[in-house]
Amino acid sequence: MSEEKGIKNICCLGAGYVGGPTCSIIALKCPEIKVTVVDLSKERIAQWNSDKLPIYEPGLDEVVGQCRGKNLFFSNDVEGAILEADLIFISVNTPTKTLGNGKGRAADLKYVEGAARMIADIAQSDKIVVEKSTVPVRAAESIAKILSANRKPGVSYQILSNPEFLAEGTAVSDLLNADRVLIGGDETPEGQLAIEKLCSIYEHWIPRKKILTTNTWSSELSKLAANAMLAQRISSINSLSAVCEATGADVSEVARAVGFDSRIGSKFLQASIGFGGSCFQKDILNLVYICECLNLPEVASYWQQVIDMNEYQKSRFTAKIVQSLFNTVSGKRICILGFAFKKNTGDTRESPAIHIAKTLLDEGASLKIYDPKVESERIYEDLTHPLICEEPEKVRKLVSVYTDAYSAAEGTHALVLCTEWDEFITLDYNKIYVDMMKPAYIFDGRKILDHQTLIDIGFHVQTIGRKLQRPKSNRCWSSNPSMN
Ligand code: NAD
Ligand code: UGA
Repeated sequence: MSEEKGIKNICCLGAGYVGGPTCSIIALKCPEIKVTVVDLSKERIAQWNSDKLPIYEPGLDEVVGQCRGKNLFFSNDVEGAILEADLIFISVNTPTKTLGNGKGRAADLKYVEGAARMIADIAQSDKIVVEKSTVPVRAAESIAKILSANRKPGVSYQILSNPEFLAEGTAVSDLLNADRVLIGGDETPEGQLAIEKLCSIYEHWIPRKKILTTNTWSSELSKLAANAMLAQRISSINSLSAVCEATGADVSEVARAVGFDSRIGSKFLQASIGFGGSCFQKDILNLVYICECLNLPEVASYWQQVIDMNEYQKSRFTAKIVQSLFNTVSGKRICILGFAFKKNTGDTRESPAIHIAKTLLDEGASLKIYDPKVESERIYEDLTHPLICEEPEKVRKLVSVYTDAYSAAEGTHALVLCTEWDEFITLDYNKIYVDMMKPAYIFDGRKILDHQTLIDIGFHVQTIGRKLQRPKSNRCWSSNPSMN
C-alpha cells in the first residue's frame, strides 16, 4: 500500500442494520470515495436498490436517496467490489452459536470467517480489512491467520478493529454525531498508517478528538464492555422496579433522583419489560463465555446476572398480566401494542414482545397484535419459530395482526403495551375503552401512558415499578351487552 495514497474505494461485506446505514453516511460525508455495499442475499440488495429499504430508520431514506447511484452502490457483485476496494469493512452477522462447543453463548464467527476467506480468495492487491462486526477479543488474530495463510504473492493486509456503536431507531443521528469512533490496530508503522487512513475517512465529519485509537484487543473488548455496561444499567433499574412495586416507591422518581448525580447520569435508566434487540444478550453471553474460557468464573457469573435479571423482568411482567386477569387468560383475547424491540425500528430480534406473546399463547389466550412498522409475516415467523412454538398452525389460528391500534384493541380483555411507539401515547383511550370487554385492563410495559387519565376512564392499569390505584367503579360499559 503506498503511503501517500488515501482511500478512494470502500467495500462493505454485509448490507444489514450496520453495513447499510454506516456506509450510507460515509458516502454522504465523503463524496470523493466510492462506497459499495455487498451482500450474499439477492433479496436484501434488491430492497436496498428499491424505494422500500429493507430496514426502517428515521432519516435513512433521504441519505440513501441523495447518494445511491452517485458514490453509493448496493450490489451482489462481491468479487468486483473486493477487487477494486482499498478498504473493506466486514459488517456481517455474528450470532450466538446454536451448535457445538460454546452453544448458546459463544459468538458464531462462521460469517466473519467466510468473509475473510472471500477476501483472501479474491484480492489481488493490498487491503485494509476492518472488523466492524462485534466479535470476541482476539478475533482479528483469526482473520489475520486466514488472510495470511491464503494470500497471493505480493498482497499484504492490515487488520483494524472499528466497532460500531449506533443504536437502531437513531442510527442516522448516532452516526452523524457519534460520541466517539474507536479504531484499534497494530502498533507497527504499517498498522499505524492503516489507522491513519481510516481516521481520515471519519475526520470528514467527526472531530479528531472524538476518534480514539487503541490496540486491537482493547478496541474489540471495549465494544463488548460498552454493551454489557449499558445492559447492566437497564437490569439494575429493572431490579429496583420490583422493589418499587413491593414498597410503594416509584421507579421513575428513583431513576430521576439517582440519575441527577452527575457521576451516574440519567441515560439508560428507563425501567421496562426488559431489554431486547439483536446485540445486548448475544454480546453479554459472548463476554460470559470468554470469561469462562479465561478461567474467570466470578467475572462470568457477574455478567450472567445481567441476562438473568432481564429474563426475570420479562417473566415477572407476564406473570402479573395472568395474575391480574383472575389467574387465567385461557380463551381471553389480548391486544399486544408494539412488537418491535424498541420504537422507531421494525426490528423484532430478541424483542420482549415475543416472550410475552409466547407465554400468553401457552396460557391459552388469543392475541390481536399491532405494530406500526413490523410486517405481519415477521410476527408470524417470530411466533412460529421452532424455538418458540411446537404447533405453528395453532399459533396462526390464535394470532391476528392488525394495521391499526383501534381494530386490534376491539373486543379484547386487556391491552399489553410492549413497545414505546409515540403514537400509543395519543390514542383515544375513551374510544378504546368503550369497545373493550369489561373490566378492561391496560398493562403499560414502557411507562409511557397517562395512568391517572386511564384510571379515570375506568381502566384497571398496571405498569412497571409503580403501584397504581384501581378505579372505584367502571364508568361506562359497552353498548353491546354481549361484550360485557
Ligand atoms: P444483519 O444480520 O442485519 O446483517 C448482516 C448481513 O451480512 C446479512 O445481510 C448477511 O446476508 C450478510 N453476510 C453474511 N455473510 C456475508 C458475506 N460473506 N459476504 C457478504 N455479506 C454477508 O446484522 P447487523 O445487525 O447489521 O449486525 C452486523 C454486526 O454488527 C454484528 O456483529 C452486530 O453485533 C454488530 N452491531 C449491530 C448493531 C445493530 O444495531 N444491529 C449495532 C452495532 C453493532
Ligand atoms: C444497543 C446499544 O445502545 C448500541 O450502542 C450498540 O451499538 C447496539 O446495541 C449493538 O451493538 O447492537 P440497540 O440494541 O439498537 O443498541 O438499542 P438500545 O437503545 O440500546 O435498546 C436496547 C434495548 O434496551 C431495547 O429493548 C430498549 O427498549 C431497552 N432499553 C433501553 C430499556 O429498557 N431501558 C433503557 O433505559 C434503554
